[in-house]
Formats: sequence, structure tokens, C-alpha cells
Amino acid sequence: MRDRTIKLILLGPPGAGKGTQAERISEAKGIAHISTGDMLRMNMRIETELGIAAKTYVEKGELVPDEVIIGMVKERISKPDCEDGFLLDGFPRTVAQADALSLITDIDLVINIESSEELILKRICGRRMCPACGKAFHISRHDSGVCDKCGCELYQRTDDNQETVRNRLAVYYRQTEPLIDYYRSLGKLRTLDGDRSIEEVLRDILSLVDAL
Ligand code: AP5
Ligand code: MG
Repeated sequence: MRDRTIKLILLGPPGAGKGTQAERISEAKGIAHISTGDMLRMNMRIETELGIAAKTYVEKGELVPDEVIIGMVKERISKPDCEDGFLLDGFPRTVAQADALSLITDIDLVINIESSEELILKRICGRRMCPACGKAFHISRHDSGVCDKCGCELYQRTDDNQETVRNRLAVYYRQTEPLIDYYRSLGKLRTLDGDRSIEEVLRDILSLVDAL
């Protein structure tokens, strides 16, 4: 175990680059990457009870009920690979989830990635995902159609279409954006401009983490 654990939250609208950055931060810092979206998609793919229950919410771009998500995250962060810390991507997404998290553990830093709607739509509509490892690609930079990590054929998420993205954005503004003030008032929030290159955003995130 390291001297100090690192517990981070990545906040931001759909398509801001949370998953893209989380993968890189997790690799650079050796901490677990916990994406509630990836966990739900995996459950949907293998048709667990949780996956079947979540499917209608995810496909409409609505949030899965808090109690389901909170139970799932609680169990996940109790696993041994979270002992050195973890990075939460897509959780919490409501004040009730943030309150529940505060009863389980203390978070060191909340990184809020801002992005413009125009870029969000371009990024999401061109995103392709690996069904096995959850890695995201963009068709403008990756045209082979297969994952460079595991060789699986990439697919497009069922919620990655213009109509659902608009609803996901509305849900974000209504239910998740209030967490910006929530964490700001706790003195834990740092905000970054996500409309830059992946490398520029990553560099800024890593310097915030290194300053902890
Ligand atoms: P989730 O999977 O969490 O989706 P999301 O929050 O809508 O965010 P995305 O995954 O769409 O975007 P991202 O920020 O990760 O962007 P990415 O890095 O992939 O949730 C899906 C659904 O599950 C929810 O709608 C809900 O139903 C349910 N759910 C999940 N968590 C829940 C919770 N806590 N409570 C209740 N329900 C929950 O990047 C997007 C694209 O842009 C990629 O192609 C990438 O290559 C590209 N890109 C990224 N960064 C850059 C950059 N800097 N420059 C250029 N391209 C970039
Ligand atoms: Mg994501």
C-alpha cells in the first residue's frame, strides 16, 4: 500500500472526457477507475437483474435510481484494488448520491471538466466503444473499428444519438450540475476547460493531483 491514498471524483457533462481522462489518470497514478456507466453497460450486456432493470433508464438518458447506484458503488469501493484509492467517473450524479458517498468515505479532490455543447455533440456522436474493456475511441482519430487494447470490434452506445444526448444534457443540468456548488462549498472543487486536447487536459489534472 502507498503512504497516502488518492480519492478523486471526475465531474462533468456527458462527453466532457471523463472516461478518456479517467483511463489515463488511473494508469498514471495506479488507482482503480470506477465508472458507473461502464458497470451498468457490462451488467446490461450480460443481462444481470441489475442490467435488465437499468436498461430502460440508460437508453432514455435518464438516471438509474439512487439506491441501485449507491449499493453498486459501495460494494465496488470495498474491493481490495481500491485500498490505494480510486477515481470515480460518473458518480455521484445527484445530491443524494454525494451525501451517501460522504458517509462511506472522504474524497480528496473533485475535478470538474467543463465542455461546450457543440463539442459534446461532436464527441459523443463520433464515439465508438470497446465492449470488453470499455475504452472509448473517436472515429476522427481511429478508423480501424477495433480496440487497440483487446482487438474487439467497437460498437456505438445505444444512448449516443442526438436525441438521447439532448436529454442526457438536460438531466445533467437539472440533477448533476448542483454538485458543482456542493463540492465548491466543501473546498474540494477544481474546474478545468475540457475543450482542449486530451493531453492538455490530462497535464492539468495530473498537476492538481500531484499538488495534493
Ligand atoms: P455514463 O457512461 O457515465 O455517461 P455520461 O456521463 O453521459 O458521460 P459519457 O460517458 O457519455 O462521456 P465522458 O465524459 O466519459 O466522455 P468520453 O471520455 O467517453 O452514463 C451513461 C448512463 O448510465 C447515464 O445516462 C445513466 O442512465 C446511467 N448512469 C451512470 N452513472 C449513473 C449514476 N451515478 N447515477 C444514475 N445513473 C447513472 O469522451 C467522449 C468522446 O470524446 C470519445 O470519443 C473521446 O475519444 C472524445 N474525447 C474525449 N476527450 C477529448 C478531448 N479532450 N479532445 C478530443 N476528443 C476527446
Ligand atoms: Mg464515460
